[in-house]
Amino acid sequence: MLDPVPFPDQLRQVSELMSPLCWDLAHIGHYEELWLVRTLSGASPTNIAYDDIYDAFKHPRRERVSLPILDPAGAREFVADVRGRALAVLDEVSLDAGDPLLAGGFVYGMVVQHEHQHDETMLATVQLMDDFAHPAADGGPATPRREADAPRLPADVLIPGGTFTVGVDDDVWAYDNERPAHDVTLASFRIDTVPVTNRAYREFVEAGGYEDGRLWTDAGWAWREEAGLVAPQFWRREGEGAWSRRRFGREEDLPLDEAVQHVCWYEADAYARWSGARLPTETEWEVAAAGAALDGANLWHAGPHRWAPSPAGSAPPATVSKWGVHQLFGDVWEWTATDFGGYPGFGAFPYREYSEVFFGPEYKVLRGGSWATHPAALRTSFRNWDFPIRRQIFSGFRCARDA
Ligand SMILES: [Fe+2]
Repeated sequence: MLDPVPFPDQLRQVSELMSPLCWDLAHIGHYEELWLVRTLSGASPTNIAYDDIYDAFKHPRRERVSLPILDPAGAREFVADVRGRALAVLDEVSLDAGDPLLAGGFVYGMVVQHEHQHDETMLATVQLMDDFAHPAADGGPATPRREADAPRLPADVLIPGGTFTVGVDDDVWAYDNERPAHDVTLASFRIDTVPVTNRAYREFVEAGGYEDGRLWTDAGWAWREEAGLVAPQFWRREGEGAWSRRRFGREEDLPLDEAVQHVCWYEADAYARWSGARLPTETEWEVAAAGAALDGANLWHAGPHRWAPSPAGSAPPATVSKWGVHQLFGDVWEWTATDFGGYPGFGAFPYREYSEVFFGPEYKVLRGGSWATHPAALRTSFRNWDFPIRRQIFSGFRCARDA
C-alpha cells in the first residue's frame, strides 16, 4: 500500500488530522519493539529518543512532521529489524506462564491489531491526497448486487426485546474496553437491514438537509456552519449536474448502491432525524450483529479489491446476522448514538492509554468495521471511537427505530 506512494509524500503532512505516513510506519515498529522485544525480553531500545518521537500521546498528529522522524527508507529498515528481534523473542517465551500479558498470546494479538489499525489510518491518509491516484485502488471488480439470487431485502429488521449478553470474557485478543461480558435488557427495536446508501443520503442532501437547522443538534449545526459542510467529504457536483466523488485520487460517478462513507457523527445524526429514525445504540448494534461471520466479507485484506464499500445487498449469506441484518463488517464503520465508556466492572489492561483516557461524552462509538479493516480487528464486540466531527475515516451508519 505504501510502496507506490512517492517518497516525499510519505514524509510530508498530507493533512493536519493525520501523521506523516512514515511516522505511522515507524510508530508501528516502535510499539512492536516496546511490547514484543523490550517488555518481554528486557532488551534495550534501538534508540531511546523514539520513546518520545513515536509516542502518540506526546505529540499530536499535526506536530509530528516537525519531529526528527525516520525517512521512508529508515522506517522500513527499523520495522524489519524489530520484526526479526520480535520473532527471536517469540521463540523463547511461554504463553502460559501465568503472566496476563502473555496468556493466550494477548500481547501478540494487541500488537498485530495495532499494526492493522494503523494500516487503515494510513489508507485514510492516502485517500486525503488529492493529487495522487493510488494504482492499487483500481484493482478488483465491483461486487455485483445479488438481486438475481437473493430476494429483495426488507428495509429494516425487527429485533424483539429481551435480555442479551454483550461484551466478551473469553476472546483472548479482545481489548479491555470490550470486557467484561454483561447482560443488557433492550426494548424491541427495528434496525436498517443495510447501511445507509449514497442513493438514500443524496436524497437528504438534495432535500436541503444541510440547510435545515432543526435536523441537527446544536453542536452539530454549529460545526456544520463552521466547517461549511454541504455533503459527505469527497463528494463533488458541478452546478445541478450529477454527483461524483474522489476515491484515492480518481474522480468517479457516485456509486448509488454503496454505503455512504466519510460522514461525521453529526451528519449521520441529522440524516437519521430527517428520516424519522435515530442512530442505534452500540448495544443495539451488537445485539443485531449476533451470528454475523466474516466469510466472504468485502475486505481489502482478502485479495484484489477496489478499495470501496460493496453495493447494498451484495453480502454473502455467512455475513448476515441471525436476525437478517446485512453488511455489518467490511463496508463502513458505523456511528452509534453511544458515548465511549467502560462497561460495568471495566479494568484497564494493559495500560490506561489504550481506552480509559478516552472515556467520556466527547467520543462517539463506531461499530462493525470498514472494507479497510483487517479481520484481526473485526468482531461483534469490537469498539472503535472518534470525535463526532471526524469523517476522514471510513465511516457511515445505519438507522434504528423504536418498535
Ligand atoms: Fe498507535
